Amino acid sequence: MSDHLTVVDHPLVQHKLTLMRDKGTSTAEFRRLLHEITQLLAYEITRELPLTQITIETPMQTMDSPILAGKKLALVSILRAGNGMLDGVLELVPSARVGFVGLYRDEETLQPVQYYFKAPKELKDRMVIAVDPMLATGNSSAAAIDLLKEAGATNIRFLCLLAAPEGVARMKDAHPDVPIVTASLDRALNEKGYIMPGLGDAGDRMFGTK
Ligand code: URA
Repeated sequence: MSDHLTVVDHPLVQHKLTLMRDKGTSTAEFRRLLHEITQLLAYEITRELPLTQITIETPMQTMDSPILAGKKLALVSILRAGNGMLDGVLELVPSARVGFVGLYRDEETLQPVQYYFKAPKELKDRMVIAVDPMLATGNSSAAAIDLLKEAGATNIRFLCLLAAPEGVARMKDAHPDVPIVTASLDRALNEKGYIMPGLGDAGDRMFGTK
């Protein structure tokens, strides 16, 4: 645990994560659990949203009371698995603006190549939360954050379900200003780039594509 990495050890998060890791968990159940766990993680990652005071009338009296301030949050899904985390955050922050980043890995250079990018306007004035369940090598995550910074974002956070130490180190190196919130820091990557013990391919498990 550091300022750069927060592992949310809440019992409900850890319980749901165990169910998600279990290979016997169905696609429908996996998707539902990801939705629920994302809401719990979103609670943590939105902790520093700015507040301002407004004056309201309760049935009893007038009071000054806090309300979210500034431009709406921007939520950015790193395709395709990030889409499984969108609705969980949007239920908590329904007015958030939503963007998408699509990257594939060039098989010759092994570098991430952009195939889609659509971000909300005025990124520089918003808290931006990039979501991707698996922070593995960190190459595509770091590239996605590069694109968001090129588009003007200055206040970015990264929300994932599982992180590998290699991915955390890569992100810390490339983007030390981007805090990461996760449900678990797992042991390591295997030789194919999968997180161990992990949960397998998050996209395949949530969309039933394997
Ligand atoms: N992406 C996944 O879906 N799973 C991993 O273990 C690593 C990357």
